[in-house]
Amino acid sequence: MFNFHKDHRALVRTAILGFVLLSTGIAIIPASQMQDVQPLPDQKPLSAAERRGLETYISEGCVACHTQQVRGIEMDKMWGDRPSIPSDYFYSKQRMGILRQSPSLLGSERTGPDLTNIGKRQPGIDWHLIHLYNPRAVVGASVMPSYPWLFEAKDETLISEDDVVVAVGKEHFNQVGKKVVATEKALDLVAYLQSLQQAEMPSASSFIPMKKKEDDAKKSTGSEGPPIDDLPDGENLYMNTCAACHQATGKGLPGAFPPLAGSSIVNDEDPETLIRIILQGYDARPDYGLMPSFAAQLNDKEITAIINHERSSWGNNAKPISVEEVTAIRELVMSEQP
Ligand code: HEC
Ligand code: HEC
Repeated sequence: MFNFHKDHRALVRTAILGFVLLSTGIAIIPASQMQDVQPLPDQKPLSAAERRGLETYISEGCVACHTQQVRGIEMDKMWGDRPSIPSDYFYSKQRMGILRQSPSLLGSERTGPDLTNIGKRQPGIDWHLIHLYNPRAVVGASVMPSYPWLFEAKDETLISEDDVVVAVGKEHFNQVGKKVVATEKALDLVAYLQSLQQAEMPSASSFIPMKKKEDDAKKSTGSEGPPIDDLPDGENLYMNTCAACHQATGKGLPGAFPPLAGSSIVNDEDPETLIRIILQGYDARPDYGLMPSFAAQLNDKEITAIINHERSSWGNNAKPISVEEVTAIRELVMSEQP
């Protein structure tokens, strides 16, 4: 083996190799996996003010005590309606400058509450301003630091209409003839805090149905003969029940919903997993959200039609399945339930 005490080249080479391997593993590969993450459909991009607020959030070190990640465990349920997914951090794709990447503010320390959904939980601007000026003014036993430098003490006579006066009580501010006025920085920070709201998962029912396909009409008039197995229109059903998440193109939404185009599960010779996913729902991987169960919403014929649409679209080319296969798996699933 190498003798690092004598062979300095080997020492430097080993150090460089270690550096390259580590940075590839923990920085380059994860960053490239994040490249094509897309936001959820109803996720709003940050406004200019909110983005400035994000910068203040970073520079004041709020991330030291506050997380912005809801994990899929019981104790995190109070912080959001669903576990966080990569799409939630889409804002960090916009750089903060030529040299600065915007961080994803997941945080790792929860001295204070998680802020993922603070915009919904605490929507009052006034509350936030007083709280930032001095947390003890609204939460008696708070250990959060005060941020008085985000405010100025202004002479009452100099206060103009544009000034946002913060109603801090006498015991926390007692300079005679002066009032606490929020600076632009404080207002932007609060705008950012209010923008922190978990975007909702698209639900199948909120999706506006596609107009009935013309060939659907053709089918019912029988001009092309009855469809095989007398199945409903799989494409139309797919558009109504699945496309809100997996998209009409079958490409999914990176960071939220997996693609069905080219999916090994969709194209599997044995359709059992595919049928089970539709019947039972699916939550196998942390890089994606949760897929609801469709057992109650879709009957066996409809599931068969959707599956056959998926197996023959977007470049997929697997053999169609029959209604009997779906019925058999449904019975199996029912018998497994206690
Ligand atoms: C030393 C740790 C610490 C730091 C740093 C800190 N906080 Fe807090 N924060 C807390 C604690 C503890 C609470 C709970 C008590 C309270 O509400 O004041 C809290 C509460 C909050 C709340 C209310 C949450 C809720 O669910 O009601 C908001 C909003 C908040 N902090 C924002 C911020 C912002 C913005 C910053 C940076 C400017 C920041 N915090 C910095 C510890 C901290
Ligand atoms: C509310 C959003 C949503 C809807 C609606 C939805 N899915 Fe999903 N689907 C997901 C998510 C999220 C996953 C990934 C879950 C995981 O891996 O943790 C998934 C995974 C899948 C997979 C596995 C793909 C793979 O290769 O891993 C298939 C197949 C699938 N869905 C089919 C369907 C079908 C068919 C429908 C319509 C009946 C449908 N989905 C409706 C969210 C949805």
